[in-house]
Amino acid sequence: MDRRPETYYLETFGCQMNVLDSQLVEGQLRDLGLRRVPSSQQADVILFNTCSVRQHAEDKVCSRLGRLKTLKRHRPQTIIGVIGCMAERQKEALFESVPHLDLLCGPGELHRLPGLIQQAWERGRPVAALAGLQSRRTPALERALEDDELEMLDLSRRMDRSDNLLRSYVRVQRGCDKFCTYCVVPFVRGPQRSRPPAHILQEVEALSRQGCREVTLLGQTVNSYAYPEDGRKVGLARLLERVHAVAGINRIRFVTSYPAEWDEDIFRVMRDYPRICPHLHIPAQSGSDRILQAMNRRYTVADYLRLVDTARRYIPDLALAGDFIVGFCGETERDFQATVDLVRAVQYQTLFVFKYSPRPGTAAERNQNDDVPHSVKVRRNNELLAVQSEISRRQKQAWIGQSVEVLVEGYSKAAAKPHSRQPAQLVGRTPHDLITVFYGQPEHIGAIVKVRVESASALTLHGRLESVLSPPPARVIGPSD
Ligand code: SAH
Ligand code: SF4
Ligand code: F3S
Repeated sequence: MDRRPETYYLETFGCQMNVLDSQLVEGQLRDLGLRRVPSSQQADVILFNTCSVRQHAEDKVCSRLGRLKTLKRHRPQTIIGVIGCMAERQKEALFESVPHLDLLCGPGELHRLPGLIQQAWERGRPVAALAGLQSRRTPALERALEDDELEMLDLSRRMDRSDNLLRSYVRVQRGCDKFCTYCVVPFVRGPQRSRPPAHILQEVEALSRQGCREVTLLGQTVNSYAYPEDGRKVGLARLLERVHAVAGINRIRFVTSYPAEWDEDIFRVMRDYPRICPHLHIPAQSGSDRILQAMNRRYTVADYLRLVDTARRYIPDLALAGDFIVGFCGETERDFQATVDLVRAVQYQTLFVFKYSPRPGTAAERNQNDDVPHSVKVRRNNELLAVQSEISRRQKQAWIGQSVEVLVEGYSKAAAKPHSRQPAQLVGRTPHDLITVFYGQPEHIGAIVKVRVESASALTLHGRLESVLSPPPARVIGPSD
């Protein structure tokens, strides 16, 4: 070929794991000498990092891919790739449904992406790297775990990146072993594997040197993190202690927690270590024991409530986020009412509600009937959100008059970027993960400031800057814009 690819366009769908994977992928693409462009129309390499968790997530990608057919006809050398969970779920069948697709790469194979892109460009034929996981531990998987590829590859790159690393994700676990009957994740991300604590710490230290102040440890069931070390298990509590000791890291969060098999030590560490944020994301999925059982969730509603009680005993101001699925197979009005009751009982700060979407190959899709009509799913979804919106409104009101600590991320979406040193509307988050906006100076970006809350909307606190508690890290980070 007479020229090399020069530009890339990358669009990300799905959860925080995918956001992190995309960041790591961008590091690799930059190493290949590729430059990011804002539209697929100008790119030599077009990638979609995809999610399979619900049909809707896949449909969005299919529609994006459909629109690229003409582009591919006019510029046949362009590489169009699907990476991430949808590549792993649909595998080579995607080449058949999307003939202008050039590249497939599963979420466990992303370290091979640079080679794949080169192959596709030079050979002009479709290429694929898929684990073909059947959620078994294979020797290849074990090796991948040992090498901990993508993150370790990226360690040096994270050192010279201009991205906004103020708040960064750090993976502590891959995959999932729980096999909830509705869920595709164990099929596309493979079995649960915990990363070595030494690698995690190396990464957090590198991030800190780069100006990172907040890390969020990522795992599908992060509370079950476990790594053998000198014949003893390092669990999440010990890992949190070690991350807490890294200089420069002011805030530590971890998501997502699974409601069973909790080690109370985690709560103890949250209580005793001030830089661990009082915030937990513990999806309940349903408030009906019958449905929980059909979902293969390994707890009852009573277990869940007991867990929340214990957590609040240790951390009284704990903010909780939760996920619920409405319209799961066989869900009656009564089951749904039980979910409403649970939402009222727990008083979440943030709630994510999803309409059940059958995923091919999962146990629910194979053995159970998707018998709740779409219109009923929509109604239950809206009803649950309405219940939560009242709870959220009341909770936000209670912050008015209080001072909160805000890690300032950048300009708020509503703010016009200032040209002079005018006060600008800035946005950041509190330790409870509440989005807060206030007027400040651009040099406050990256700082932790004290803000007096004056009003609150459903999603956001609004306040007045009181003082700067700690200036931005020495290493300047590009403000998010
Ligand atoms: N590992 C996390 C979440 C993974 S997926 C956990 O176990 O909690 C994120 C959320 O998507 C889930 O919590 C669930 O509420 C939702 N979800 C997963 N599969 C789904 C499906 N088939 N239909 C609708 N929602 C689904
Ligand atoms: Fe999916 Fe359940 Fe694993 Fe969460 S715990 S990723 S919902 S299988
Ligand atoms: Fe989606 Fe894969 Fe995350 S299926 S939710 S992007 S792990």
